[in-house]
Amino acid sequence: MKGLVLSGGAGTRLRPITHTSAKQLVPVANRPVLFYGLEALRDAGVTDVGIVVGDTHAEIEAAVGDGSALGIRATYIRQAAPLGLAHAVLTAEEFLDGSPFVMYLGDNLLRDGITELVERFRAGTSDAMILLQRVSDPQSYGVAELRDGRVVRLVEKPREPVSDLALVGVYMFSPAIMDSAKAIRPSGRGELEITDAIQHMIDRGLAVEPHEVTGWWKDTGRIDDMLEANRLILEVIEPRVEGELVDAALEGRIVIEAGARVVRSSIRGPAVIGAGALIEDAYIGPYTAISDRVVVRRAEVEHSILLEDSRVEEIDARVESSLIGRGVTIRRTGEKPRAYRFMVGDSSTIGLL
Ligand code: TTP
Repeated sequence: MKGLVLSGGAGTRLRPITHTSAKQLVPVANRPVLFYGLEALRDAGVTDVGIVVGDTHAEIEAAVGDGSALGIRATYIRQAAPLGLAHAVLTAEEFLDGSPFVMYLGDNLLRDGITELVERFRAGTSDAMILLQRVSDPQSYGVAELRDGRVVRLVEKPREPVSDLALVGVYMFSPAIMDSAKAIRPSGRGELEITDAIQHMIDRGLAVEPHEVTGWWKDTGRIDDMLEANRLILEVIEPRVEGELVDAALEGRIVIEAGARVVRSSIRGPAVIGAGALIEDAYIGPYTAISDRVVVRRAEVEHSILLEDSRVEEIDARVESSLIGRGVTIRRTGEKPRAYRFMVGDSSTIGLL
């Protein structure tokens, strides 16, 4: 069985982060979200993995390389434009070469991995297996309608939900998906939808098996989901302190990487502090991931993700529920006249007190 990981897409919901980098590389507990998916495939014994990439291909290739560090063999497949999940499958036809495969959306996280599901699909006779989870807002997802344990209908972002079973971003397919992906037409939003391709399989009498996921699942396409994924992973990290502590108070699960310094500060975990970071006269609260070389000085940060080389300094109020990009500086300057001064990229959001 092969793996197909989708790492292209537009990532419009995570702008401005995705103006400059791939959303699949935004770190969750300081590791790119994509790595968790690749490792889930590896753990399920799926090591021949095609990675569909778009405009951000160079960055993805630099991060994953040949895949050996993650225990897989990576083949990159260039999708000319993000024309839909079924379009990504068609783009990978040569790589898939008639093999059954697991399709994994590169920005999705599943607590319990996919090993058991891959085994079940391998042992069974169905042509597709879809993973489902009950959600409170089905209109934001593709949803499935079941009858007698079989999938009978799939609807993409239904206005009037027919069920609350949302499609999780992992699918298993026999090669029969290819003919269906070729047969469908673009949807109203101009994409070849995987839900339409699966519906096509159902309509021509093929067996599509549902499986309800019980452990947590996160699609990290929006900031709130990204912070939530960060929280869930931080909750189970192995504590480890390798950095330097000077008059520091630590409480709870905390990772402090080598080369990080925590000076006259308190950290309440779960939290992770990256290599070369400096936390000085500061407070880092629960569910915070501080990437490498970040500086937090005379400030308080909680429930946030700070990417590499950013700085948060001299802030009176607490910074929380924030996703701060690479090399960003947020600092009180004390300059006169007293004013807010911004140099902020397109599609940014700033919340002031
Ligand atoms: P989505 O999150 O559904 O789409 P998107 O990345 O375009 O994001 P947004 O809606 O915010 O603009 O995509 C799910 C995953 O599949 C994600 O990892 C990107 C990837 N993808 C592709 O590789 N090719 C595609 O054509 C599409 C639509 C998505």
